[in-house]
Amino acid sequence: MKEMEVRKTKQSKISKVDFSALGFGDVFTDHMLSMAYGKEKWQKPKITPFGPVRILPSLSTLHYGQAVFEGLKAFHAKDGSINVFRLNDHIDRFNRSCRRLCIPEVDKQTFLDGLVHLLKMDRAWVPTQKGYSLYIRPFAFAADNNLGVHVSHTYRFFVILSPVGAYYKEGFNPVRLITAIDHARSVEGGTGAVKTAGNYAASLLAAHEAQKKGFTQVLWLDGVHRNYIEEVGTMNVFFLIGDELITPHLGGTILAGMTRASVIHLAKDWGMKVSERRIAIDELIKASDKGTLKEAFGTGTAAVISPIGLIQHKAKTLTINKGKVGELSLKLYNAITGIQYGEKPDKFGWVYKIK
Ligand code: COI
Repeated sequence: MKEMEVRKTKQSKISKVDFSALGFGDVFTDHMLSMAYGKEKWQKPKITPFGPVRILPSLSTLHYGQAVFEGLKAFHAKDGSINVFRLNDHIDRFNRSCRRLCIPEVDKQTFLDGLVHLLKMDRAWVPTQKGYSLYIRPFAFAADNNLGVHVSHTYRFFVILSPVGAYYKEGFNPVRLITAIDHARSVEGGTGAVKTAGNYAASLLAAHEAQKKGFTQVLWLDGVHRNYIEEVGTMNVFFLIGDELITPHLGGTILAGMTRASVIHLAKDWGMKVSERRIAIDELIKASDKGTLKEAFGTGTAAVISPIGLIQHKAKTLTINKGKVGELSLKLYNAITGIQYGEKPDKFGWVYKIK
């Protein structure tokens, strides 16, 4: 294990937190992991009290967004251990994002050891109630102080932890979506497949407009034709049409979600027909008109499974499963959360256990 500097907080903040009223991402634990990159290598990792980071207004990330992040979760398992869901896969995706953004990759073992140490120190912050978890947010950004547009020579890496409840105020209740007509999220060759800050910045205007109209989120269509379905808000999307479970293929414009991969794996394991393919909005409308569009749901680490009750596309309104939670959405939610909380066997080896 790489040498690590550890400085503990003098006073934990945990007693000030109301664990029965957790939202998403507004409470942070006592400690954070950090590491600086300079002289062409990542320096010694540190765990220190969660606190301010000193930056100058000339920090290149503030101007040009050379920044990546991940989002994964730790759960309080039935046997008292902490279950981290798909930890290795998240670290690999973090490094894929780094490569696309010209950020030096973080050594996998250093990342893993540092995170496990941090989780052990802050294990009292992992919520114990079902439906709650500890959201883990690793991120890295360019740290040069320079206004030239070029690859930075210095970087900072952090992992912060946040005890969370449901991502959407709807909880597990169906969300209402509107297709984005005037805005696109990404195009082939762009950065749509990686977790970089700019993708999320670019999504805000459409999401804000959708919310002003009373919708929960945006259903993104492809950037070229505004015809093929891509993602929903910050999640991947699935449709059950007849007996076929369809999700847009990974063509470089959408994120390779971990929950997406888990849903595909589970559904295939249950013997379902699963297709990763292009799906046009017209196909969805036709299926809805014919009555074969049975269910739709979004998948993401933050929201897990988010049933979709309604889609508005131009003048057409599709009501899905009478606006109710579907059988498959519920079955998938129960299967995934069952594995995460250690209530069901981890048949596929998705859980990293911390005793
Ligand atoms: C996640 O589901 O982890 C996401 O990345 C969504 C996040 C941007 C809140």
